[in-house]
Amino acid sequence: MFGADLIGRPISEVDTPALVIDADAMEKNIADMATYFAKAPAELRPHAKTHKSPIVALKQIEAGAIGATCAKLGEAEALQQGGVRDILIANEIIGKRKIARLVGMARHCNIAVAVDNEKNAKEISDAAVAAGSTVRVLVEVNIGMNRCGVEPGKDAIDLVKKVQKMPGLNFFGFQAYEGHLIMYGTRAEREEAVRASFDPLIETRKQAESEGLEVPVISGGGTGTYDITSQIDGVDEVQAGSYVFMDAKYNTVDGPGDKFSPAIYLWSTVVSRPSTDRVILDIGLKTATPEMGMPAFLDFDGATVDKMSEEHGIATVTSEDARQLAVGDQVRIQPGHVCTTVNLHDNYVVVRNGVVEAVWNVAGRGRSQ
Ligand SMILES: Cc1ncc(COP(=O)(O)O)c(C=O)c1O
Repeated sequence: MFGADLIGRPISEVDTPALVIDADAMEKNIADMATYFAKAPAELRPHAKTHKSPIVALKQIEAGAIGATCAKLGEAEALQQGGVRDILIANEIIGKRKIARLVGMARHCNIAVAVDNEKNAKEISDAAVAAGSTVRVLVEVNIGMNRCGVEPGKDAIDLVKKVQKMPGLNFFGFQAYEGHLIMYGTRAEREEAVRASFDPLIETRKQAESEGLEVPVISGGGTGTYDITSQIDGVDEVQAGSYVFMDAKYNTVDGPGDKFSPAIYLWSTVVSRPSTDRVILDIGLKTATPEMGMPAFLDFDGATVDKMSEEHGIATVTSEDARQLAVGDQVRIQPGHVCTTVNLHDNYVVVRNGVVEAVWNVAGRGRSQ
């Protein structure tokens, strides 16, 4: 097993670049979110796209979450193989071969999947009937993100009616993700916008129920909106994921930025000091992703990663402290966007009080099919 020899060793002996979980900080994030949801009207179904690990998902469930969310069938399989029993794929599963895997999984765990297309729903239903299983299905509704989803109102209700008649499906409710607002504005501006974006869907639910259609759940929400979406009357599940580790982008978001702590970092080495104000790190595009902003130094003010190439992180240091960094020094760098950064790594090195406690495989990493 990779890293078995590291267990019990100080972090200074961990070779870089490595993806490290701060176990205390992760457990605190999980516990703090669980405490919030113990009193919230909605349940927590954390998105595993962040950690891609059944070990972390089971910790969230042990703390009170009702199951896991994921984006891909491959991620769902990795969770199921690791012992997670209740999984929502908040995404469409298209094509014969994938549908065969989906209905097979449905025999071994409680699986739910999003649909926004009648033909796709019928293919899942037919495959489920042939396999002797049933699949829970959420009709995905577009609440402003303009990604997948039918429109609220008549389009959504028409698809629900069709799904309810399909013998291999169990209508489970509506999937709706307010991804366009997840980091929007101040906490107060976000609340107003999120409530407005859910209004048409809540109306749709009422309309469906008035026509005698039972709508078990509405599922949506993320780390930037968990304490808004969970309070909307009619929303039952929240899919926050990033809170478990946080990242440099979410740190800047009013709300979660103050409530959750950085619990993951890239353990990195200074490989060159070409000038007083330039530090070169051994993290680059093969270890960290830049699409939501650059990774950030966790322990130094006046130090920024400005640019990354494949194997190098190019940083500017302006403070006295950061200027002391020398070739061979190791530093903690927080990912800019945690979910896609984790996807670049095979293993987590789990550290508590500076000592390696475990090494976990990132089981769902790269499982994009
Ligand atoms: C469908 C869906 N739900 C929930 C989330 C929540 O993510 P986060 O906790 O990172 O805001 C995401 C993120 O991409 C998503 O795609």
